[in-house]
Amino acid sequence: MDSLDRILAEIAAEMRGMEHRGKVADYIRPLAQVPVEKFGIAVVTAKGETHLAGDAEEAFSIQSISKVFALTLALGAVGDQLWKRVGREPSGSAFNSIVQLENEHGIPRNPFINAGAIVVTDVLLGHHQPREAIGQMLRFVRELAGDDSIGIDEAVARAEQDTGFRNKALANYMRAFGNIEGEVDLVLGTYFHYCALAMSCRQLALAGRYLMDGGLSNGHRLITARRARRINAVMMSCGHYDNSGDFAYRIGLPGKSGVGGGILAVAPGIASIAVWSPGLNPSGNSQLGQIALERLVQRTGWSVFEPRFGAP
Ligand code: DON
Repeated sequence: MDSLDRILAEIAAEMRGMEHRGKVADYIRPLAQVPVEKFGIAVVTAKGETHLAGDAEEAFSIQSISKVFALTLALGAVGDQLWKRVGREPSGSAFNSIVQLENEHGIPRNPFINAGAIVVTDVLLGHHQPREAIGQMLRFVRELAGDDSIGIDEAVARAEQDTGFRNKALANYMRAFGNIEGEVDLVLGTYFHYCALAMSCRQLALAGRYLMDGGLSNGHRLITARRARRINAVMMSCGHYDNSGDFAYRIGLPGKSGVGGGILAVAPGIASIAVWSPGLNPSGNSQLGQIALERLVQRTGWSVFEPRFGAP
């Protein structure tokens, strides 16, 4: 057995025995029904090898991990102009917080909190219909993962729509500042569909290759190396909300979490990693996902803060 396969199998076995698994998101039924016992991990290396353990082939709701793909598309559409409407500083607040928006004139701190991702979605929607913007996202992640079976869980999108009062408040509040241009309902409908993308760890790790490989996805240039580096920087500083400092301290990799319990983490030049365990910590990040990544980094030395990181 390859040593990486062995490490992943060990981690999956260790996670099976964990007692404190966090709490599954319960604000919508389709997420509340996911068994807390699930655990999967996938690693795609720079050489193109895929290593899997646990429930790595099972699709789950990627939720806020979609904010990384939305940011990538929005930077492609409007370039650095995007940063006039959304910042790139950690918020130190919860993912769905509204408190900073008043003092900061409707400009969200970063594209990975809900408010920021709603602005990014508004940019992507532009003058299109939601159906077109949702189709663009679906084609994008399918192309990234090289897998046309990726879909959107309509039940999740619908449930979000029925219960998304906070997101509606955020969007309306930003619209009052002139930072949302589209119809709030259309922008949110699109945002909820992005969140409802269903992907497995394997598909997600494959989709993250462009961030690992300086903007190349499966050898093809998708974005510039500089843009990939910058997206990784925002993931490192803001990818885990008010838990981002702790994630950098413990894991030391750019990462993005979602309330479905997934985390996409990037070891630049080395590997794209996806992990899934639906139980969340109080900040809404996967409890075991973080522990599994911490153990993976300890055993492989893949933190970007390792002195020899990425050396030949
Ligand atoms: O907008 C929401 O609240 C959810 N659809 C997504 C939130 C999320 O994944 C935050 N992540 N940890």
